[in-house]
Amino acid sequence: MTLHAAAHLHPHLVVAPVRRRTFGSFVEHMARCVHTGVFEPGHPSADADGLRTDVLELVRELGVSSVRYPGGNFVSGYRWEDGVGPLEDRPVRRDLAWHSTEPNTFGLDEFMTWCDAADVEPMYAVNLGTRGTQEALDVLEYANGEVGTDLADHRALNGHPEPYDVRMWCLGNEMDGPWQLGHVPARDYGVLAAETARAMRRADPDLELVACGSSHSAMPTFGSWEQAVLEAGYDAIDMLSAHVYYRQEGEDRASYLASADDMDAYIDAVVATSDHVRALKGDDKHVMISFDEWNVVAARGDSGTEPSGDDWPVAPRFAESTYSAQDAVVVGSLLISLLRHTDRVASASQAQLVNVLAPIRTEPGGRAWRQSIFHPFALTSRHARGQVLQLDIDSPTTPTRKYGDSAVLDAVATWDADGGALTVFAVNRSADDVVDLGVPLLAFGNGTPLTVIEAALLNEKDPDVVNTAGRPDRVVPRAFEDVHLEDARLSASLPPISWAMIRLERRG
Ligand code: AHR
Repeated sequence: MTLHAAAHLHPHLVVAPVRRRTFGSFVEHMARCVHTGVFEPGHPSADADGLRTDVLELVRELGVSSVRYPGGNFVSGYRWEDGVGPLEDRPVRRDLAWHSTEPNTFGLDEFMTWCDAADVEPMYAVNLGTRGTQEALDVLEYANGEVGTDLADHRALNGHPEPYDVRMWCLGNEMDGPWQLGHVPARDYGVLAAETARAMRRADPDLELVACGSSHSAMPTFGSWEQAVLEAGYDAIDMLSAHVYYRQEGEDRASYLASADDMDAYIDAVVATSDHVRALKGDDKHVMISFDEWNVVAARGDSGTEPSGDDWPVAPRFAESTYSAQDAVVVGSLLISLLRHTDRVASASQAQLVNVLAPIRTEPGGRAWRQSIFHPFALTSRHARGQVLQLDIDSPTTPTRKYGDSAVLDAVATWDADGGALTVFAVNRSADDVVDLGVPLLAFGNGTPLTVIEAALLNEKDPDVVNTAGRPDRVVPRAFEDVHLEDARLSASLPPISWAMIRLERRG
């Protein structure tokens, strides 16, 4: 069946500017994200620092803006000092978060070198699980201090005299989760985060500080956790984190395809809670959201199993989702949700970057390749420019088990007035029906009409096909032929389970 949908937009009706930090990612000392992921001395592509240049090239192509590090659950038991200084002096330790052995051959300095090479902004998480305010101040001094004090001098001795000037700092990770080392009730964490933030601001008032929100909107403390943390430290923090991972449960494709409905509701709920506390406090500023872990998990599960018992391996292979065409469509749809909320989502990090639930996969000693989910991220990062426009979408709905009736068609558009460039990102979330989308563009007329200059479609007849090391380009975006522009009306026919990007420009 063919369904019909329309999207109405106007260049003057804007949400807020596109933020580069929406296109962040995450590198954690977990499984094979660091070791044999971004870092593999001895790999044929490794540079003098042991960084895999084949991975670096893909990271640049992906268009990643910022990278959160070193965890994740890992950070809540981590001693950052273990990862700096001469290699021969670095201790090997057990990582209790992932039941692994951490060799500490990659640490803060290597990460900063990697950020430089990848051309990304660092976002650093401090350990508020087993450590606290002093450790946060120490790592801040090591990273950002001018030479002349102890820890900044240590950095210089380690070969890095220039401060790294890290702007974004996470005050711990998922401290609401009982699985987290050092997990405490909301009020306790709120006070610790607020006091740590205030102390860090004495060193540098302009830091951008992220307190932990909930690790999922289905957490039993969701809402009350945010409120308690904000009440303790509204003045001291800039952002509150949000985390979510979606996966198809059983045969329930419809709910999975509608995951962005949940992300929309999640963001709206955190914004409401934050603004409620703002009103209580009579504060002027808005606390923003750092959606610093979001992604999908492959339905067929991940390769490998998390180690347990007497087995404490280095860089074990687990949590390696092999993503399908359908997963790529859902990732494209989640990016639409994040962009739509660009007024309140100030930063986001897809979790993670390499091997662990990641757009990039590698084999130790072998190749690196793009997973299906690489593509919507890369295209959105590259072509979302200017202002995010408000969209009024008129779409048929489809029933879903988890989210009730859900719009089949979702979309977002960005408008770069200077370049005269309009980009529409759209998703057909129906598993069965084609959607004919119409977008009136008269308001963009202004003498020189818009022309379609590129249209890309992610869609496979079999939505479950995947990219593998042997067939890394099985799922790629293709030219979207079914796009027309006539009488200032854009029309596109989106096949079931598809994501599309359509770029228009003023030419002439
Ligand atoms: O990204 C994997 C893990 O998921 C992170 O370590 C943790 O923060 C989350 O629960």
